[in-house]
Amino acid sequence: MDYQTLLELSRKESHLDDKTIKYVLKYYLKVEPTLKMKIGQTKIDDYLRQLQKINEGYPIQYIVGNVDFYGYNFKVKPGVLIPRFETEQLVFHTKKYINKYFSNKVSLLDIGTGTGVIGLTLKKEVPKIDVTMVDISAKALKLAKVNASHLNEDVTIYKSDMLDEVIRLNEKFDIIISNPPYLTKDEEIMEVVRRYEPSKALYGGKKGLKYYKVILANAKKVLKDRGLIAFEIGSSQTLDIIKIANKYFKDSPYEIKKDFQGRDRMFFLFYNLND
Ligand SMILES: C[S@@+](CC[C@H](N)C(=O)[O-])C[C@H]1O[C@@H](n2cnc3c(N)ncnc32)[C@H](O)[C@@H]1O
Repeated sequence: MDYQTLLELSRKESHLDDKTIKYVLKYYLKVEPTLKMKIGQTKIDDYLRQLQKINEGYPIQYIVGNVDFYGYNFKVKPGVLIPRFETEQLVFHTKKYINKYFSNKVSLLDIGTGTGVIGLTLKKEVPKIDVTMVDISAKALKLAKVNASHLNEDVTIYKSDMLDEVIRLNEKFDIIISNPPYLTKDEEIMEVVRRYEPSKALYGGKKGLKYYKVILANAKKVLKDRGLIAFEIGSSQTLDIIKIANKYFKDSPYEIKKDFQGRDRMFFLFYNLND
C-alpha cells in the first residue's frame, strides 16, 4: 500500500484530525513520507493497531515516543509520566529566580525527575547549574539517563526515595525543585490518565500532600545555608502547603504563582535569600 492510500484509510479508521494522523504516521514510519512511498503490510497492520489504541484513548506521546517541552525534545515511555505543559511555567519562574538570587555556580536537586524534563531543561537554560536528578522508579531513572544523553547534558542521576539517599550521601544544594505526585485517590482526573499513566507518579496520599511534607520536613538537611525551594502544586493545595512550609521554615518568605488559567500552581520558598 502507498502512503496516500494509508492516509485515506487512517481517516476512515479513526476520529483523529489530519495533522495528528500525519504526525503519528511520520513517527511510526520513522522517515519523512512521500505520497507514493510504499509501505509493507506488516508495518501497516502494526500501525493500524496503534491507531486503534489511540482511538481508545491511549496517549499519542507513548506511541510516538517523545514530547516537546520548553523547546526541547524528550523521549517518553509507558511507565513514566508524560511531561505536562504547565510544568514549563515552573521551569520558567525557577530560571528567573536562579538568575536573580545566584550569581555563581549553583547546585540544583530535582526530586521525582521522571523523564528529567525539569532538571535537564534548567541545565540547558542556565548552564552554570550543577544538576542532580533523583527518582524512586527504575524506569524513570533509565529514561532520564537516555534524555540526558539525547540532550547532551552532563548531570548526576540516581535512585532515592525522596531525600533519603541524598541525605545519606550528605549532599548539599542551593535549589530543591520538585513536581511530586500530588493527586488524591478520589480526585477527578481523566480516565486515560488514570488508566495509562503510572500511579506512582500521580498520587500523593490522602490529601495529596504527603511528598510536600516529606520534602519540607527534610529540606534543611540538604539545603546550603541559603536556598530556593520550588514546587508544582495542585490548585486547591495552596493553604495546606503554606501551613506545612510555615512549620518547617517559619520566617522564610514564599510566593505562589498561577498558571495561564489563573489557578495557583507553583510554590516558591526563599530560605535566607535577600532581595
Ligand atoms: C508528577 S511526576 C513528575 C515527573 C517529572 N518531574 C515531570 O515534571 O514531568 C512525579 C515523579 O515522582 C516520582 N516519585 C514518586 N514517589 C517517589 C519517591 N518516594 N521518591 C522519589 N521519587 C518519587 C515518580 O516516579 C515520578 O517520576
